[in-house]
Amino acid sequence: MTYEASPGGRAASAPLLGREVEPTLFELSVPGRTAYQLRTTDVPAVPLEDLLPAEHLGEPVALPEVAERDLVGHVTRLTHRQFSVDLGAYPLGSCTMKYNPKFADEIVADPGLCAVHPAAPASMTQGWLEILVTLEERLCAITGMAAATLQPAAGAAGELTGLLLMRAYHRARGDERRRVLIPDSAHGTNPASVTLGGYEVTTVASNEHGLVDLDALRAALGPDVAGIMLTNPNTVGLFEEEIREIAEAVHDVGGLLYYDGANLNAIVGVVRPGDMGFDIVHMNLHKTFATPHGGGGPGAGPVAVSSRLVDFLPGPRATAQPDGSFAWTTPSHSIGRVHGWHGNALVLARALAYIEVHGAEGLTRVAQHAVLNANWLRRRVADILPAAYARPCMHECVLTATPLKRAYGVRGLDVAKALLEEGFHSPTVYFPLIVDEALMFEPTETESPQTLEALALALERIAARAVTDPESLHRAPQSTPVSRVDEARAARHLVTTEDAASRP
Ligand SMILES: Cc1ncc(COP(=O)(O)O)c(C=O)c1O
Repeated sequence: MTYEASPGGRAASAPLLGREVEPTLFELSVPGRTAYQLRTTDVPAVPLEDLLPAEHLGEPVALPEVAERDLVGHVTRLTHRQFSVDLGAYPLGSCTMKYNPKFADEIVADPGLCAVHPAAPASMTQGWLEILVTLEERLCAITGMAAATLQPAAGAAGELTGLLLMRAYHRARGDERRRVLIPDSAHGTNPASVTLGGYEVTTVASNEHGLVDLDALRAALGPDVAGIMLTNPNTVGLFEEEIREIAEAVHDVGGLLYYDGANLNAIVGVVRPGDMGFDIVHMNLHKTFATPHGGGGPGAGPVAVSSRLVDFLPGPRATAQPDGSFAWTTPSHSIGRVHGWHGNALVLARALAYIEVHGAEGLTRVAQHAVLNANWLRRRVADILPAAYARPCMHECVLTATPLKRAYGVRGLDVAKALLEEGFHSPTVYFPLIVDEALMFEPTETESPQTLEALALALERIAARAVTDPESLHRAPQSTPVSRVDEARAARHLVTTEDAASRP
């Protein structure tokens, strides 16, 4: 695809507000304008044709030609049209969109960390290896596991790694198994990872309390079950109180327990998956520890395992040597690499910085505040948006807009969109699938009581509008750069070009 730079270029306007369309960089382009200046040297300029054979040159790619001033203005104006974790409360359930402290960014900006090539030999990168070994130790202490791989680049990559470990474990025992059990409330990545890992999914129904139905679980178990993938707290935000019985039943048929630890901020420093009977745990470091979730940035999904799975971990791993040095080693029955290098190293270093600054007590407070905030909000708005399950929740609460729908025709989606007009990001909607008109709020541990009260007042104003002017809620939001979109069409027919706004 080639682009034609407009010959005259458009003037970059003052801050764009409301519905005005931001010009693209190509529209701002003026031939010959540049955003960089090279140092003057006495090295003579050589035409490109003299350096490369003609057949390697091809057609020049048309790129926008803009000054640094135009570029920075363009990007800054676009950022002002977004909602971000730095801007305000972002209670998007299951995603842990919490504020991430900036000190961790400052630490990883150190050239000693960010300017090191991953292929540099261990003898020259002992400090980096020590960071990785220390992080692995901390994550094992937090989860109650024996060892971990830091390679997986995100939560879903961790899930696939965990399933490959599960298969390697069964295979090594000459025991090919076919199925993996997943509760019906599970995160969508779980069944996807099971399928990708070469297993069949068997869904286990939840009971009327939103927890795994033990009878349904026992009925689904058999000698062909490789394991169960579970989240605790589960995706309805509730703690699986019968976790010991679940673990025993799965272990009794020779299966393994996989813990989806994406939402570790609910339990960090309070209870450990290893103590609940789990064998494999993935963690989303980009949700719990100092790196924002979402936004397309890198993540990290380390996988920690119990002692019987250590030999299968991906390699190479940074390991401490008897002489006090650090080396890259590969476990004896390793499943191989799951990342081109050693994982997203700067996310790993941020996580260690966050863990060290908080210490054990601080991490426990993280979980306590996450759970307190979710329960406070659940109780505060119970009259307008009742909880789907009338019991204490963990770090997120699943509410339902069914009463508003029945009385005024106002759906969960309308409430979520209207919240944007109130200056808050929307909660997750229509997930988990087993709850009608689900609104899943995760206030996270970083929001203050004042912010939570402001959120509750905003929800009350929306509920009042449902009575007096439900139509206005169907059209919300009106104050944002983009109003209501056809979500299904937007997902299926993504238009990424600059004229998207003018397309029907
Ligand atoms: C419960 C759960 N599992 C798995 C994932 C997948 O993590 P990732 O988006 O890093 O792949 C998420 C994502 O937030 C999640 O909430």
